[in-house]
Amino acid sequence: MTRITPEAIRAKKARGERITMLTAYDYSLAAWVDRAGVDIMLVGDSLGMVVLGYETTAPVTMAEMLPHAQAVGRAVQRALVVGDLPKAALDSSPREVLACAQQFLEAGCGAVKLEWRANAPELARHLITAGIAVMGHVGLTPQAVSDPTQFRVQGKTAHEARQILDAADTLEAVGCFSLVVECVPAEVAQLITQRLSIPTIGIGAGAACDGQVLVLHDLLGLYPRLTPTFAKQYAHLGETVVQTVQAFCADVQAQRFPAAAHTFHLPPSEAEQLRALIAEPHRLRT
Ligand code: KIV
Repeated sequence: MTRITPEAIRAKKARGERITMLTAYDYSLAAWVDRAGVDIMLVGDSLGMVVLGYETTAPVTMAEMLPHAQAVGRAVQRALVVGDLPKAALDSSPREVLACAQQFLEAGCGAVKLEWRANAPELARHLITAGIAVMGHVGLTPQAVSDPTQFRVQGKTAHEARQILDAADTLEAVGCFSLVVECVPAEVAQLITQRLSIPTIGIGAGAACDGQVLVLHDLLGLYPRLTPTFAKQYAHLGETVVQTVQAFCADVQAQRFPAAAHTFHLPPSEAEQLRALIAEPHRLRT
């Protein structure tokens, strides 16, 4: 099966088709999510929070991202896989950022994402010139947040909203193929979506974007800390995990597990020989 390309994602906007995107960090869940038919799977640096337990995404390194990108790369057959360049990578030189982006491609990604920052246009241009498809990210840029209480809606004043629109325009102008718009008022996301010819993919940005993205652990109800108010929990798998593990513990304590169906046996002749061997006096080896 061939994977969805960045060009195919762009073409969806032209056809007025909504784009679906979820994060993915490991082989098993990535395989199920791919089977469900999502368009884009982002190996997001949100893994720092939902997989590694950091309070923000700021400490995440490439060394932490790459094994997850490889695992998702092994699982996915259909979706476009996007590697999220972590803050530590973007803090380095354009040359090193390019090397990190290439590592994501080698891991099985078809594109990379970078969050808005002062030199984002320069970095994006550098990657795009080298032939790498880049997804931009404006509005709330979690890598800029070092304290979890600062995850707030951005662009609530006309001046701030104007700055986000300018950032979006710039990332389209340098050649990004799509843009994540995070945690901004719906009116701001709608304006960006109308102005740009590349698709916008919203998270906490209202319904007007060309697509929607959620963190998989929020969607599944797996993250044990607070779920953002803009995220919809479609399942409560955390509770299912607790109930399932309690059932296992109860079965073990009551000796209901393992049952006959989970147990291997020696063939009767081997069992008999073994009894005979055990009965023989132990001979010393010479
Ligand atoms: O890292 C991430 O999961 C993200 C999404 C929230 C878009 O950047």
